[in-house]
Amino acid sequence: MSDHILNHFNKLKAKGLNIDITRGKPESKQLDLSNELLSMDIEPYLGDVDLRNYGEPLGLKEARILGSNLLNTPVDNIITGEQSSLLLSYQFLLSHYLFGSKIAWKDLDNPKFICPVPGFDRHFRMFEDLGLEMISVPLLDQGVDIQSLRKILNQEKDIVGMICVPRHSNPSGEVYSDQNILDIFEATTSYSDDFVVLFDNAYLVHDFLPTNEQSSIWELANKSNALHQAVCVTSFSKVTFGGGGLSFLGAAEKNLELIKRIRASMVICPDKINQKRHLDFFKDKDAIIRHMKKHADLVRPKFETAYAILESISSDYGTFSKPTGGYFITYVTKKPIATKVVELCKEAGVLITPAGATFPYGDDPLNNTIRIAPTFVNEEDLKLAIDVFISSVQIAHNEQLV
Ligand SMILES: Cc1ncc(COP(=O)(O)O)c(C=O)c1O
Repeated sequence: MSDHILNHFNKLKAKGLNIDITRGKPESKQLDLSNELLSMDIEPYLGDVDLRNYGEPLGLKEARILGSNLLNTPVDNIITGEQSSLLLSYQFLLSHYLFGSKIAWKDLDNPKFICPVPGFDRHFRMFEDLGLEMISVPLLDQGVDIQSLRKILNQEKDIVGMICVPRHSNPSGEVYSDQNILDIFEATTSYSDDFVVLFDNAYLVHDFLPTNEQSSIWELANKSNALHQAVCVTSFSKVTFGGGGLSFLGAAEKNLELIKRIRASMVICPDKINQKRHLDFFKDKDAIIRHMKKHADLVRPKFETAYAILESISSDYGTFSKPTGGYFITYVTKKPIATKVVELCKEAGVLITPAGATFPYGDDPLNNTIRIAPTFVNEEDLKLAIDVFISSVQIAHNEQLV
């Protein structure tokens, strides 16, 4: 082991750092971009709708039109909900669990859900809650590994659905190609009519560098005669305020009916005041795109800083994703040392998402995948954190024999 690396690590450790790069959160300067929302005067009526009262369970018509433009989905197929798309996803899954389209998932012996990996720990948590056995499928540059997907579908019974983060996937940043999404539909529609593909489009408008074109999920599902199985969600959590924006869901036919049914038992109506506030703030989709350019200008330098430091060590230690949007970088170590790297970082005062968190059941079979979230901390702390990270990678790599 080179003394130089250990000395450098010990020097960083001696600084008594306390830096958290575990979660993909906007930094306060990004939140400031939407401060106008904090002090807006809201008229109590929109047309003849009294915003202060119950009503409009699917959301204000104007907020649904905004969602329709964002998701390129007919307005009648849009629900504009509360502040969390994860909540809409959960409600949707629960509606299938309790009621189902043909058969409720709770009545199946061993319902299964396909999860592209690496993926989002909170998705895995929902599937675990609902007793859905998770089957991993690898992600490739253009999206899901279709050959592996087909193989799984050939082998397994009772697979009820699949999750996808089709744009700037969390955490490795893939943007699925149109062909990949068409192939997913082709494989899954022929598996079963009831199969659902839940597209979590959390990073739909979150490009910070030029990004491959992608058609809307609705358009691709329509082309594939798969509208009955595609559901798409997104939110303003990383557009305006984390946990304080709006959420949107687009679905057709039975899926739309199921989500309406379960929501009718849970919420009488969404927060129309917040919807109106957002409508006043963003007059239309173009205003959202302009707003997101300001986010991009704040986020891009953070990623560039992280890339430059990660690049400073040899790719013999590992490789990393260079996303063009979203909130994460994924580092893949050459040796099975992810757990050790995260431990060393913690020892030096840098918190990283636990190793394994990006895999179902927290089990990264190769123990080599680490998620880095560079946005929340300031530039100075980010430099220190990534420096600690690369030192930890080198130490763990050199210690590990195979
Ligand atoms: C893929 C993905 N989906 C959903 C969410 C949460 O979205 P919301 O705040 O709308 O529930 C996140 C947040 O990190 C995410 O990365």
